[in-house]
Amino acid sequence: MQIDIITTTPFDDQKPGTSGLRKKVTVFQQANYLENFVQSIFNSLDDLKGKTLVLGGDGRYYNRQAIQTIIKMAAANDVAGLIIGQGGLFSTPAASNIIRKYQAFGGIVLSASHNPGGPDEDFGIKYNVSNGGPAPEKFTDALFENTKTIKEYKIAKIDDVDLDQIGEQQTGNIKINIVDSVADYAELMAQIFDFDLLKSCIGSGYISLCFDAMHAITGPYAKHILVDVLGASPDSIINAEPKEDFGGGHPDPNMAHAKELTEIMFSDQAPTFGAASDGDGDRNMVMGAGIFVTPSDSLAIIAANAKSIPAYSKGISGVARSMPTSQAVDRVAAKQNLACFETPTGWKYFGNLLDAGKITICGEESFGTGSDHVREKDGLWAVLFWLNLVARRRQPVAEIVQEHWRQYGRDIYCRHDYEAVDAKIANEIFDHLKQQLSGLAGQSFGENTVDYADIFSYTDPVDQSVSHNQGIRIGFTNGSRMVFRLSGTGTVGATLRIYLEKFEADADKHDQDAQEALAELIELAEQFCQVKQRTGRTAPDVIT
Ligand code: G1P
Ligand code: ZN
Repeated sequence: MQIDIITTTPFDDQKPGTSGLRKKVTVFQQANYLENFVQSIFNSLDDLKGKTLVLGGDGRYYNRQAIQTIIKMAAANDVAGLIIGQGGLFSTPAASNIIRKYQAFGGIVLSASHNPGGPDEDFGIKYNVSNGGPAPEKFTDALFENTKTIKEYKIAKIDDVDLDQIGEQQTGNIKINIVDSVADYAELMAQIFDFDLLKSCIGSGYISLCFDAMHAITGPYAKHILVDVLGASPDSIINAEPKEDFGGGHPDPNMAHAKELTEIMFSDQAPTFGAASDGDGDRNMVMGAGIFVTPSDSLAIIAANAKSIPAYSKGISGVARSMPTSQAVDRVAAKQNLACFETPTGWKYFGNLLDAGKITICGEESFGTGSDHVREKDGLWAVLFWLNLVARRRQPVAEIVQEHWRQYGRDIYCRHDYEAVDAKIANEIFDHLKQQLSGLAGQSFGENTVDYADIFSYTDPVDQSVSHNQGIRIGFTNGSRMVFRLSGTGTVGATLRIYLEKFEADADKHDQDAQEALAELIELAEQFCQVKQRTGRTAPDVIT
C-alpha cells in the first residue's frame, strides 16, 4: 500500500464548536481542509495504531466524498479496521451504539445535525471516544492546537471503497466492514421498550401516529422500527426519504421547521401521537393531538415516568439537564429523591456522569433527550419512550402533560434565537451584559427581584475539569430565570440565544400561551441585552 505524505499549511478556523467542526460545504471543499482536520484528529489520538474506528454520517451532501477520503487517511495512519454504515450512513445515536457494541476505539461522525445541507449549505465532522460519546473538551482543545501547527497529512493510494455492499473487504492494509445502518440500533430499542405492548396498541388503532423524518437520516430507521416491526401504516411516516439536501428544508424538529407535522397535529384529523427528528437523528420533537411538548417538559415527564419502561423499571440513578433547560426536571428529582446535575450546553458534558452511573436520563431544551443506553442524545429513543408511555398509561399526550403540571407545577418556557447577527455587535451585546452583572442582585424589576446574576462555570463532578464562560444567567427570587448564550454550532455570524422561564404552581393558570405568560420577562431580557436596539431587528428569527 503506497502512502503519500502531503505537505499542507494550517487553517485558522478549525476550532470545534458545541458539537464538532461545522462549516459550509464550500469551506470543507477547499484543498486540504478536510484532510488537515482529519489528520489533526489522528495526531491527537495516542495508540491509534492497530485500532478499529466507526465511520458514518447523516447522508448530507459531501458525506460520501468525505468518507472515501477518511478511509484512505485512516489506512495511512495505521488504523486496522473501519466499521462503516451501509451507504456511509449512521444516525448519530446509531454510531454511538456501534462504537459501544463493537468496542471500537472511537468513531468519526459526519454531520452538521439540524443545519441545512446541500452544495451551498453545511457539513460537519466530529470525533467520538470509546464510550460512544462526543470527545471531551480536553481532546477537542488538543485537536484544535494540532490544526494550528499541522504541516503534513498521510493518505493511502487505494481505490474507493464500495460503500453499499454489506460485508468485510480488505483494501490496502485496512479492513473495511460495511454493516447495516439500522439493525443494531433497532435491536437495542427492542431491548429497552415494550415492543409487544406497542405492537398491540398500534395494531388495534389505539395509537395512531405521524413521524416526520424531515428527509433526513431517521427515514430508514423509523420505517424499519415503526412500520416493519411495530406495524404502523407506511403513510404514518412523512418526508421519509433521506435526501442530500433534506429536500431543501431545515431539518430541525421544531414547530417552525416541521411545519407539515405541526399542521397535522393541530388539525381535526390529528393522530394520537406526532414526532419529528433532525438531520442526524439525535433530536426529537414530541407532539400529541393539539399539543406540543416542550423538550424541557418532555425531559421531566420522561424522568418522572421512567419506571413504566422495561429498561428503567428498577428506577433511575439520577438526572441531568443543560443549564438553559428549564428546571422542570429538577422538581421531579427533588420529589423522587434523585441526584440532579446542571451541565453546560452540549451532550459531551453528560458523558462522565453517564459513565460513572451518576445519571440515567438527561436532556437539553434544544430538543435533545437520552439515557445511558448510548452516549448521544437519541431522537427515536425519545419517540419510542413517549409511545411506550402513552401505551402504558392509556392516556393521550395532552392528558399526561397536564397531569404532570398539576403534580409538579408548570415551568413555562421559551427560547428566542437571533441568527446571523454581526459578530462585532454580538460581542458588544455580551460585553454590555457582563458589565451589568455585578450590580443586579437585589434589584427589582416589576414582579421580579434578581436573586443572582453570573456567568455559568461548571466543575465536572467526576474528573473535576472546569468549563468557564458557559452563558450568562439571571435568576429571580420567584424562580424565574433568563439565560443568554452565543451559539457554538452556527456557521454564519453569531447566533444569540435568549432562554426564558417562569414557574406557575396554580393549575388554573397552566393553560397559558408561553409567549404571553413570559411577556414581562421577554421585555426585561431586551432591557438587559438590547439585542433589538443594537441590531435593528424587531423580533427573533426562531422561537421554540
Ligand atoms: C445547539 C444546542 C445545544 C446542542 C447543540 C448540538 O448548540 O443549543 O443544546 O447540544 O446544538 O445539537 P448551540 O448552537 O446553542 O451551541
Ligand atoms: Zn442532531
